[in-house]
This record gives sequence, structure tokens and C-alpha cells, in this order.
Amino acid sequence: MSREINRIAVFTSGGDAPGMNAALRAVVRTASFNDLHVFGIKKGYEGMINGEFGRIEKRSVGNIMQRGGTILKTARSEQFRTKEGREQAYEYLLAFDIDACIALGGNGTFTGAEIFSKEHNIPFIGVPCTIDNDLFGTDYTIGFDTAVNTAIEAVDKIRDTAESHNRLFFIEVMGRNSGFIALNTAIGSGAGSVLIPETETSIEKLVENLKLSARRKKMFSLVIVAEGNKNGNANEIAEKVRKELSMFDTRVTIIGHLQRGGSPTFRDRVLASRLGHAAVKGLIEGKGNVMAGIVNDKIKYTPFKQAITKPKLVNEELIQLAQILAI
Ligand code: F6P
Repeated sequence: MSREINRIAVFTSGGDAPGMNAALRAVVRTASFNDLHVFGIKKGYEGMINGEFGRIEKRSVGNIMQRGGTILKTARSEQFRTKEGREQAYEYLLAFDIDACIALGGNGTFTGAEIFSKEHNIPFIGVPCTIDNDLFGTDYTIGFDTAVNTAIEAVDKIRDTAESHNRLFFIEVMGRNSGFIALNTAIGSGAGSVLIPETETSIEKLVENLKLSARRKKMFSLVIVAEGNKNGNANEIAEKVRKELSMFDTRVTIIGHLQRGGSPTFRDRVLASRLGHAAVKGLIEGKGNVMAGIVNDKIKYTPFKQAITKPKLVNEELIQLAQILAI
């Protein structure tokens, strides 16, 4: 039987993502609209374990929508991986009389919530926030759009200098196990090649293509590499091909955490607003241990188990498109 929800706790956890604040605002305002009390927990599961709870009112989330990062702060909690840590977190949830929790985060956050839900009877709903876009059950995760826009802006700038100096650049973008950022950045920036974890990287093919470019006197090229690429990150790939491509003046750029910051795009703000709202609505309707997502523009709730274990496939059409447009 589903419990009556009066007091909810919300937290941000794992890697931050642009749009987390917009999602928090939507959670607090939707809860307030429905006369629920909201508590914010600082630093994700770490704060849950240490009792860092505080009331958040609808006015205290004003003027945060446009801000990157998370005003609640975030952490990757080692302690929450232990049974003792989760037990302590549960004690604090009871002490603050919390009926349900809303977790804003990614894979690791929902894995924690899934384990917790088997041990304790407090429902969690997840809001997918990660720049990697690697969660099953939602077409896009919050932060992904902003991260890709940031990466494209960076690649555009690298293109200027690459072209001026006639250089080959290996540019690494984030994506621990997924190539969504890399593939979309490559298409959006018109890069020559892209290497992602989801497809076999043919170093030979890459070398062959670049040699062909050199024969045609095109000595500047951009190769986007997802950090999780199975055959190596940008530095490793550059090292592997450097000898064979001695005709090129090669450089490596790692865009890194730049991609995690900045003001969210309109897409991320709207997505965050819709999903924050859907999370509260889901709890009121008695749902628990699911992630709120949007599939084909419709709200969909997916069990945590599926969201974190089912593979989210990259669109094959995009892989082909990146190749065709780079000829
Ligand atoms: O999950 C988001 C992400 O930015 C990944 O793309 C990256 O591998 C990882 O987080 C980096 O984590 P951290 O900020 O803890 O170094």
C-alpha cells in the first residue's frame, strides 16, 4: 500500500550537470503547489549520512534556474556503498520524518537508491541528471545538451587554430562509458572522425583516412575521441598513430570539466522543469524506485533497475551520418 506523502527530501548526487538547479526549482515549486514540505540535503548521500538537512521554501529556489552546478552541492559517497552508511542515512530520514526522496543524479546515484530501496521502506524517485546521457528510459538526460553545446564551442575554436597551423588535433570529450557527447559534438562541429566506446575503433582505418587527407594536401583535421573509447583516450590514440602519421603536426586537447559547467541551455532548463515536476507528481501518485524520463516527448517512469542496467544505444543513423558528412 502506498504511504501518504507529506514531507519529501531532495538531493543532488554524483557528477554535477547543468540544469540540476532548474530541476531542484521544479521539485520545490511543484511540492509547494501541492502543499508538501521539502527538505534539501547537502552533498548527496554524504549529507544524508551526516544529517545535513534543511527546509527549502518555494522562494529560496528563485534565481537559480540559470545557474550551472548545484546549490545543494554534490558528492560521490563511498560511505553510502556500505550497509552501515545506508543505515545511518535511514536513521536521519526517520529523524526528519521524511516520507519520500527525490534523487537528482545519474547511474551511481540510482544504483545507491536501488540498493537502499531493498533495505528500507522509503520510496525514491530519480531525476536523470548527467552530461553523459547514458541512462535508459529517457531520450535525454539533464545537462547533456549544455555539455554538447560547450564541447562544440570549444571545437569551433580549436578548428580556427588547427586550420591556421595545419595541424591534426585529437580532441577528447567526456563520456565515461558512452559516446553520446562525442558523436553529437562531431556532427555539430563537422569533425573529420569520431571514436566512441559503442563501436569498434579501427585505428588502421583512421590512419588510412588521415593519410589520404595528407595525399590530398589537407593537413588539418579534427578527431573527436570519447574519454571512454575502448582503444584508448585522446592521448593514447595520438600516441598509437603518431609514428605512422609523422607527416602531421599533431596536438591533443582534453576539454574535460569545462563540459560540466555553465548556464544550462533552454533545452536543459525545460527538460529539468518537466522532470522535476514529474518526480513530485509520481510520488504523489504512489510511485517509487523509478526514474522519471521523457521518451518521444511523453513522461515515462522506468524502474531504477532498468534505467541503470539496460543499455542505451547510440543511434546508428548518427554514426553513419558523421562518416558521410566527413568525406
Ligand atoms: O558522469 C559524468 C562525468 O562527467 C563523466 O563524463 C566523467 O567520466 C566523470 O563524470 C568525471 O567524474 P569526476 O568529476 O568525478 O572526475
